[in-house]
Amino acid sequence: MATEAKPRAGLEDVVATSSEVCFIDGDRGILAYRGYDIHDLAKYASFEETCYLLWHGELPARAALGDLQSQLAAARSLPEGVLRLLKALPAANAMDQLRTLSSALAHYDPEIDDRSPQAQYRKAVRLTARVATLVAAIGRVLQGKGPVEPDPVMGHASNFLYMLTGNRPSGTATRAFDVALVLHADHELNASTFAARVAAATLTDIYSAIVAGIGTLKGPLHGGANADVMQMLLEIGPDADGQRIEQTIRARLGRKEKIPGFGHRVYHTEDPRATHLRRMSRELGEQSGQRGWFELSRRIETLVKSEKRLNPNVDFYSASTYYSLGIPIELFTPIFAVSRVSGWTAHVLEQYANNRLIRPRADYTGPHVPRPFIRIDER
Ligand SMILES: CC(C)(COP(=O)(O)OP(=O)(O)OC[C@H]1O[C@@H](n2cnc3c(N)ncnc32)[C@H](O)[C@@H]1OP(=O)(O)O)[C@@H](O)C(=O)NCCC(=O)NCCS
Repeated sequence: MATEAKPRAGLEDVVATSSEVCFIDGDRGILAYRGYDIHDLAKYASFEETCYLLWHGELPARAALGDLQSQLAAARSLPEGVLRLLKALPAANAMDQLRTLSSALAHYDPEIDDRSPQAQYRKAVRLTARVATLVAAIGRVLQGKGPVEPDPVMGHASNFLYMLTGNRPSGTATRAFDVALVLHADHELNASTFAARVAAATLTDIYSAIVAGIGTLKGPLHGGANADVMQMLLEIGPDADGQRIEQTIRARLGRKEKIPGFGHRVYHTEDPRATHLRRMSRELGEQSGQRGWFELSRRIETLVKSEKRLNPNVDFYSASTYYSLGIPIELFTPIFAVSRVSGWTAHVLEQYANNRLIRPRADYTGPHVPRPFIRIDER
């Protein structure tokens, strides 16, 4: 049966599913996980509490949080085979490595074929624990160093920084990174979450769904933008004067290039996550004696706002924040996955719990049907 309806480009404003996980009001700049405002979560919650909230719908009491922390700690180490594969892979984009290695994790999960809700939940916990360890290990290998084993008593944010650098992070660095993880944990039906839900709706396994999410996150219109922001900041330089900043930004706009880290499909006002990341970028810049990246970002923000009336999104100030934390640029997008795997898995669990195959239609715009078939000798 032919469809009459015309599609909305990019499915803009199309409501594609019901979900209890995340609420966004793009006009008022509101973001909430399970009803809790992102500003409260950024102030008071740890990433582990946020994971629990996304998966269970409620904030954990101390004992439940302790249990989750133990489960994450028990799952953090990578299987030997995955570490061997990491060393064997040719040098590649860190997101490509993360995609391949996350897929490899499935081979070492004894519950891969267990579709019970309890097993799916345990796999969500394992995936969240291990994606962080994987990204840290990828970062170590990129720096020509060996992976660092997780520390069983450290939390998720501090463990990540420890496994990446080999040094115990300061309280300030840990809290900043923890807040960044909280801010990136979920965002309703963003492209990668939608991809993960579409995959899950075929009742494929949770690893396949997360791999679909990782592949989607890599794109420069999505998670890839944070690394592009930093490349742009480096290209301009932290000491650039106003004229150079204007020239570079205007030249990009003149060539109809997008300025990475600006604009959003859903927010028509400030992205509430950017508010926190702007502050963190300033504070970390001051503490590390590299305030120039924040100042440069601020000037670009003013310029892009006045030229294009575009607001910074989550990726804009996360670039200078991560840079001040000493994180290599190649890891900026993988770090997005370290956090977003919690949201992806929450959505996948929700999809499994109330599933119907996601199979929309296309508005056919090809040649008239039926075309007369011309045999190969007559073409
Ligand atoms: C996020 C994004 C993909 C949303 O895209 P979208 O809803 O499809 O919006 P469009 O790309 O159709 O943009 C609408 C208009 O704003 C402009 N615009 C949007 N983002 C822009 C940006 N970052 N820089 C310059 N112009 C931009 C477009 O050129 C377009 O202008 P036009 O109507 O004159 O052609 C888009 O803003 C973008 O590419 N941003 C840069 C990449 C980025 O930061 N991604 C991370 C998102 S969290």
